[in-house]
Amino acid sequence: MLNGQEIVEELLEMVEAAPDLVVQHAVQRIHEQGPPYDWVGIYLLSGDLLVLHSYLGLATDLTRIRVGEGVCGMAVAEGRDMNVPDVEAVDYYLACSAETRSEIVVLIRDGERILGVIDIDSDTLAAFGEADERELRRVADVLGELLGPRLR
Ligand code: SME
Repeated sequence: MLNGQEIVEELLEMVEAAPDLVVQHAVQRIHEQGPPYDWVGIYLLSGDLLVLHSYLGLATDLTRIRVGEGVCGMAVAEGRDMNVPDVEAVDYYLACSAETRSEIVVLIRDGERILGVIDIDSDTLAAFGEADERELRRVADVLGELLGPRLR
C-alpha cells in the first residue's frame, strides 16, 4: 500500500537540495509501488492548459490537456479530486492507453490556487479506494505547499 507520509518526508528533505526533482521524485515513488499504479504522471497548470511535467509508464502523447477536457481537465474545472472506477463509463475520459480501466486524479493546490494534478491510470477496474485517495492527498498537499511559492 502507498505510504504517503513516507513520501512527504522525503519530499520535504529533498526540496532543499534538489527542488527541481521534487515532482519527478513523487512520480517515481508512487509508480515504483507497481500495480495498480500502472501509469503515474503530474501535470502542472499553465493558463488553461495542464502540461505534463513528469510521468512513468507507457509513453503518452497527451502532454497537454485543456481545462474541462478529460478526467484531469474536469477535476480542475470542478475543483475536486476524481476517482473513476470505470473509465468506459465516463464520456469525457481521454484515453492514454487501451489497457487503462480506472483512473484517479488528485488536485495539487496551494491554498485555493490549483497548481496541477497527480494523475494515475490503472489496468485494473476500480483499482483505487479511500486509502489511495488519502495517501495521494498527503503527497499532493505537500507538493502544493512546496511548489506554490516556486510557481508564482
Ligand atoms: N486519462 C486522462 C488523460 C491523461 S492520460 O491518462 C495519460 C484524462 O482523461 O484526463
